[in-house]
Amino acid sequence: MSKPKILIQLDPDDQPSVFDSVVAIDSGVDQLFRHHSVQNSDVEGLVHGAIFTRGPKDLHNTAIFIGGHNVHDGEAILKKVQSAFFGPMSVSVMLDSNGANTTAAAAVLSASKHIDLSKAKVAVLGGTGPVGQRIARLAARQGAHVAVGSRLLNRSESVCDELSQIDSKWSLTSFATQSDNWIDSIRDATVLFAAGAAGYELISSDELQELSELKIAIDLNAVPPAGIAGVDVMATGNEVHGTMVYGAIGVGGLKMKIHKASLGKLFTANNLVLDANEIYDIGSELIG
Ligand SMILES: NC(=O)c1ccc[n+]([C@@H]2O[C@H](COP(=O)([O-])OP(=O)(O)OC[C@H]3O[C@@H](n4cnc5c(N)ncnc54)[C@H](OP(=O)(O)O)[C@@H]3O)[C@@H](O)[C@H]2O)c1
Repeated sequence: MSKPKILIQLDPDDQPSVFDSVVAIDSGVDQLFRHHSVQNSDVEGLVHGAIFTRGPKDLHNTAIFIGGHNVHDGEAILKKVQSAFFGPMSVSVMLDSNGANTTAAAAVLSASKHIDLSKAKVAVLGGTGPVGQRIARLAARQGAHVAVGSRLLNRSESVCDELSQIDSKWSLTSFATQSDNWIDSIRDATVLFAAGAAGYELISSDELQELSELKIAIDLNAVPPAGIAGVDVMATGNEVHGTMVYGAIGVGGLKMKIHKASLGKLFTANNLVLDANEIYDIGSELIG
């Protein structure tokens, strides 16, 4: 008889994410262990508890999910988790701090339904947050030119520097929205993502009209006002004046499917590491 599926939720925040826990249960996890305030120094002991309790043939029924609101903290925990594995003694692990990987995958896949991203000029407003950074990374990986936006130039520059360290061939530029005529920096954009903090408009209708090449506009902010003025939060590829538009809840449906499919995949082997690219690829298979 196969062992129960155990998911070990490692969350660096004071309270482990309820959202992540509910999705885990809804994805068919039998037992969920919720660890909060997880520090790097805690990780080795937690991982040893996971890998030394079941024999190698049963380890695919144990998996680790790394959440929390800070992606950099999540990435540091992921490194520690991997370094605690050895030989066949490992379990599969998924990183989705703040929902960044699943949300970015859903947003970029939504765009890719309508446009060849390898030829696209992508602009990411709010490109310094967890979701925006992952969108920039996934779009750049497809070969798009990506303009990363922030209110402050030094913040968007630093994201571009970090992304260039993943692949120096990626085509990246930075821009600042707290500057006069900032719209000139993205005037040729064909795809626009808004990944700003909830409840803030990042681009007005007048500014939007200046983007004459725009084919796709995707807003991830569900809290009014919309991040992209005029975008309906429920939109799922609605055509508005020749632009395909998605709102946050419109993208959220695919995001939830990707999150659940990724959790399901964890229990198919004991050596998977699901980060931005792998989660994107799972989403890609889902939409066919
Ligand atoms: N639809 C879904 O399924 C889903 C799932 C997860 C998240 N979300 C949404 O996706 C969006 C991005 O999430 P996130 O966690 O990456 O966001 P975040 O970290 O809260 O914010 C992203 C960026 O927004 C900018 N920002 C902050 N306050 C601002 C303000 N007052 N005015 C303008 N810009 C401001 C900041 O960039 P600078 O300081 O560099 O300008 C920040 O780095 C959020 O709206 C979130 O609610 C949607």
